[in-house]
Amino acid sequence: MKLNPKFITLEGVDGAGKSTCIKFIKKYLTDKNHNSFFTREPGGTLLGEKLREILLHDEITPETETLLMFAARNEHVQQVITPNLQSGINVISDRFTDATYAYQSGGKYVDSKKITVLKNWVHVNLKPDLTLLFDLPIDVSLTRLKSNGNLDKFEKESSDFHKRIRNSYLDLAKKEPSRFKIIDSNQNINIIEKEIYLVLDKLFS
Ligand code: TMP
Repeated sequence: MKLNPKFITLEGVDGAGKSTCIKFIKKYLTDKNHNSFFTREPGGTLLGEKLREILLHDEITPETETLLMFAARNEHVQQVITPNLQSGINVISDRFTDATYAYQSGGKYVDSKKITVLKNWVHVNLKPDLTLLFDLPIDVSLTRLKSNGNLDKFEKESSDFHKRIRNSYLDLAKKEPSRFKIIDSNQNINIIEKEIYLVLDKLFS
């Protein structure tokens, strides 16, 4: 059988409900017997998880933050993502490089050209087959975050910061409509589940 594993990434503003949707994706892939590996960024490796602690809690400059995101990503790509794909296993990553464009460039004004240089260094030939962008208005996402409590550094940022991130993600989606599928996270969870299944059906058909 010809192996054609997929690389799927999940993106969106904080509080967009990715965690619930990951459960739907896991269920779909298990039911259809698609061998899959779930991972996340920043994180996914021993070093990546250590860097995640720093990135989510320590105040560092936006440029250092960008470099550390890509240091973690380099380990992730080389140790986890590429080997799994090469073994025919689908990889689903909770965030990837679009997050750096949205958060560090859109949110914190790092020059996007610098991010592109790092992207071309770390994974010039690797691009997601599908990116699910979970989108919802910022007032809704911030209300959800506040009710969760225990916020990290990014989640504590201003509403303007989160708006810039949302807009950056929507701009990225506009530029690559065939890769991105925008899911309206502000609707009934059963509808969201059905939408995800439809998108995955199309990807794996
Ligand atoms: P999570 O809460 O979805 O696990 O993501 C962790 C946080 O890290 C989230 O607020 C977004 C942020 N982040 C960036 O700022 N840049 C990146 O490149 C990635 C992957 C995540």
